[in-house]
Amino acid sequence: MRKTFQRTLITSALPYANGPVHIGHLAGVYIPADIYARYLRLKGEEVLFIGGSDEHGVPIALKAKTEGITPQEIVDRYHYIIKKSFEEFGITFDIYSRTTSAIHHQTASGFFQKLYEKGEFIEKTSEQYYDEEAGQFLADRYITGECPHCGNKHAYGDQCEVCGATLSPLDLIHPKSAVSGSIPVPKATKHWYLPLDRHEAWLKKWILEDHREWKSNVYGQCKSWLDMGLQPRAVSRDLNWGIPIPVEGGEGKVLYVWFDAPVGYISNTIEHSPDDWEKWWKDESTRLIHFIGKDNIVFHCIVFPAMLKAEGTYILPENVPANEFLNLEGDKISTSRNWAVWLHEYLEDFPGKQDVLRYVLTASAPETKDNDFTWKDFQARNNSELVAVFGNFVNRAMVLVHKYFQGRIPERGEPDDYDRATLNEFKHIKRNLEDCLNQFRFRDALKEAMNLARTGNKYLADTEPWKSVKTDAGRTKTVLNIAMQITASLAIAFEPFLPFSSEKLKRMINKKDLKWSDLGSIDLLETGLRLNQPDLLFEKIEDEAIEKQIQKLQDARKANVLKESQAAAKPLKACIGFDAFEKMDIRTGIVLECSKVPRADKLLQFKIDDGLGGRTILSGIAGYYAPEELVGKQVCFIANLEPRKIRGIESQGMILAAENADGAVAVIRPDKEVSPGSEVK
Ligand code: MF3
Ligand code: ZN
Repeated sequence: MRKTFQRTLITSALPYANGPVHIGHLAGVYIPADIYARYLRLKGEEVLFIGGSDEHGVPIALKAKTEGITPQEIVDRYHYIIKKSFEEFGITFDIYSRTTSAIHHQTASGFFQKLYEKGEFIEKTSEQYYDEEAGQFLADRYITGECPHCGNKHAYGDQCEVCGATLSPLDLIHPKSAVSGSIPVPKATKHWYLPLDRHEAWLKKWILEDHREWKSNVYGQCKSWLDMGLQPRAVSRDLNWGIPIPVEGGEGKVLYVWFDAPVGYISNTIEHSPDDWEKWWKDESTRLIHFIGKDNIVFHCIVFPAMLKAEGTYILPENVPANEFLNLEGDKISTSRNWAVWLHEYLEDFPGKQDVLRYVLTASAPETKDNDFTWKDFQARNNSELVAVFGNFVNRAMVLVHKYFQGRIPERGEPDDYDRATLNEFKHIKRNLEDCLNQFRFRDALKEAMNLARTGNKYLADTEPWKSVKTDAGRTKTVLNIAMQITASLAIAFEPFLPFSSEKLKRMINKKDLKWSDLGSIDLLETGLRLNQPDLLFEKIEDEAIEKQIQKLQDARKANVLKESQAAAKPLKACIGFDAFEKMDIRTGIVLECSKVPRADKLLQFKIDDGLGGRTILSGIAGYYAPEELVGKQVCFIANLEPRKIRGIESQGMILAAENADGAVAVIRPDKEVSPGSEVK
């Protein structure tokens, strides 16, 4: 039996306060959560929408260390930047707080203590790396060394970023502490674990049986975790940035960031409603919904529910509509590679165009699979949907009412068959939108709203009131009355998605108090109501603005390539005199024949026209070139290298090639045709 709920508590993942927010955050979490919150409020439901910054964890501590400032300074800096971006984009949190607040420290600490006292943890001692010079245990990210799989010398204790292998710090060859540079030593340390295995049975039933309606990407990920079997998870860390462990033996240790952060939802509720926060968290008639990205699924569907259940007095989430990832121009969004569209920069370049981004990010939200944001698509959706359909319809209707009826809503006569067909389509808009929104299908919901604008556009094009005005004033009145009723419904339908435009539209039609239940009504604007002057809702975005954005990304890509090649370049060899250089006889030649050397994987045998009757050279580049690829091509070679026998064949020189950081080889060739035997100098 489906429960009936009295109120909805909406949470959105608390972003780490170690960088500004970008379009991926907005598309994946905050826009959908905001659409949902606005929709429920418009319906008159009781809603609380929680946001905040996640301010603990190793990456923040590490960033502070590299910048030579305190973690608190880092999170202070970004908390306010993030908060401002959200405000500017109209994300209507009821509270946006932070996990460094006193109330959060108290709440999270109390939560841990309660589980501890109830015996909900197990304690385990294990060996972890300790930095004797710095006198501290090292988080996985604080240890670097050689990757045992690929030999990368700068692998981290949790992962090798070259080959992607998941590592444990003890796997690293020649480990080094990022804190002091010294060699860390293994040392025993005690931690508290949440024994998820004890929770497996009820979690299985709760998710796999009772919540089959969850989005398939969410359900699928949960199922695979549950099928693998759950293990105890450590909820404490040896670190000095975070919330101190409040029990005996906890000195020098803090709560694991993923233990404290979700409790932040609770702390922020307490901060917002100190007197009646419990109704949001402890009353079965509250519907709890977590909006998150896919990398947070296990924490919100398995770990946090297990924490809540272990505590014993909390409700569990009713749904967790997680999104997949948004890519940017075909590549993964990356803060460190500056491959992102930052919200604060977007607003500098497109002031006042919050709704355009909200529209595009909703229309191409990664709801069921990863999706791609491109600037061309951004432009196309603005120009051919927002401007050409929605904006155009509203503007035409408004302008005509001003032109023919002094800006007053004309009287509606008897609708004809065509009017009725249009109104018939219009009748379903509310149901259709609700069906989508209730199932967290925001893209489809937005399409429905846009279809209504299309219907309006087509209605005006087909009824041509600018023609009938000359012959049939009554008909013109009816048509424009209907067009304006559609306009009023558009203001409601788009309100959750495009709040700024909707606000503007409501001002234009002089109606502030439209409610969701009014959607689809044909009596929203009473005859004689005076409209305000029309103002364009959207404007065309020109190619130039788009090219500028694409250029910005290309610059970022170039900067990355440069950074990477600098990191990869080998140190220079010792200086040599000019005479040493002059002793080398480097020549060009043309490859006459080329073949593989039997039983030698890497070797190619070349016959070169060197302008002197030809010579044979062996070269170890078979891994990078097929023999036929080079025949007829020019190459450069050292002509006076002492001949050497390799595999019984005399090699008379050496072909020059460049070697990339990854070991790939490219043969050096003159960039114009020169005669064989030309000197290279
Ligand atoms: N800071 C985390 C992230 O960005 C999300 C934390 S969500 C919360 O991935 F539940 F822990 F708050
Ligand atoms: Zn590796």
